[in-house]
Amino acid sequence: MEKLFCITILVCLVAPFYGTSATEGPVLNKVEEHIVNGIDARYCEFPHAAFLKIAAKPKDYFCGATLISDKHLLTAAHCLEKQISSIEAHFGSTNKMNATVIVRVASWLIHPNYTTTPQLRNDIAILTLEKPVPKEKCVQPIEIAKKTDVFLSLCTVVGWGKTGEKGHYPKQLQKAIMFRLVHGQCRKFARTLPDMHLCMGDLTPHGENICNGDSGSGLMCKRRPDFKFVLTGIASFNYNCDEGLGVFVRVKHFEDFIRKHTNI
Ligand SMILES: *[C@@H]1O[C@H](CO)[C@@H](O)[C@H](O)[C@H]1NC(C)=O
Ligand SMILES: *[C@@H]1O[C@H](CO)[C@@H](O)[C@H](O)[C@H]1NC(C)=O
Repeated sequence: MEKLFCITILVCLVAPFYGTSATEGPVLNKVEEHIVNGIDARYCEFPHAAFLKIAAKPKDYFCGATLISDKHLLTAAHCLEKQISSIEAHFGSTNKMNATVIVRVASWLIHPNYTTTPQLRNDIAILTLEKPVPKEKCVQPIEIAKKTDVFLSLCTVVGWGKTGEKGHYPKQLQKAIMFRLVHGQCRKFARTLPDMHLCMGDLTPHGENICNGDSGSGLMCKRRPDFKFVLTGIASFNYNCDEGLGVFVRVKHFEDFIRKHTNI
């Protein structure tokens, strides 16, 4: 069971760069998708959202990431555990084929306590770009959550992942509103650690959710009392894209780690 769980997670939310047929997928997640029940993001609406094109063995794949300074991005650690030859970060367009800015990733740091068993923990990594992103209207970093921040339970998630278990991979960045699940409710489905993970969703079939290809993508929530949107979560795993429950890395828990290794 533990093994299945792990494979499901890892295969579930990263996605091949060129969509694969249903038969290639893992048993529990036959098809690849992105945000479930989302809508197209507007041009320039999420200037911090990046598309990571990852060249790796045995095949290339992609993940999401979020720009947090002119040279750093946050993504999920499980996006980086393959044999990677290079990573490109694409910015500036909601269309994944049409970035206005492409910068190579020079190095990446996986959280030292990242584990996949008995469950995915500390699933966070910092990417450093080869050079700073140019100043552009549609390429802008976002503020990260601080340890002391509190948020409204209504948040927005974005990503290029699949649209459902039987969905497709969209070209356009998708956005969806997701609600925070209270921890007790979350525990029934995901044995998550409350300080490290955020459970989002409303448990409705085919409700808003993250799916394959959304790994590493950002969850933005409104902070109290200034109502500013800040980076609050990183898409990590789910159990079934169609079950309306997604688990995110809780960014504020990693504030020290992030600040220590970036210039923010
Ligand atoms: C891609 O970008 C080009 C040039 O910036 C633009 O003309 C074209 O409409 C874009 N295509 C899509 C599908 O967004
Ligand atoms: C990793 O775990 C050890 C042991 O619990 C802890 O002392 C250390 O601070 C952790 N590292 C980070 C970067 O959180």
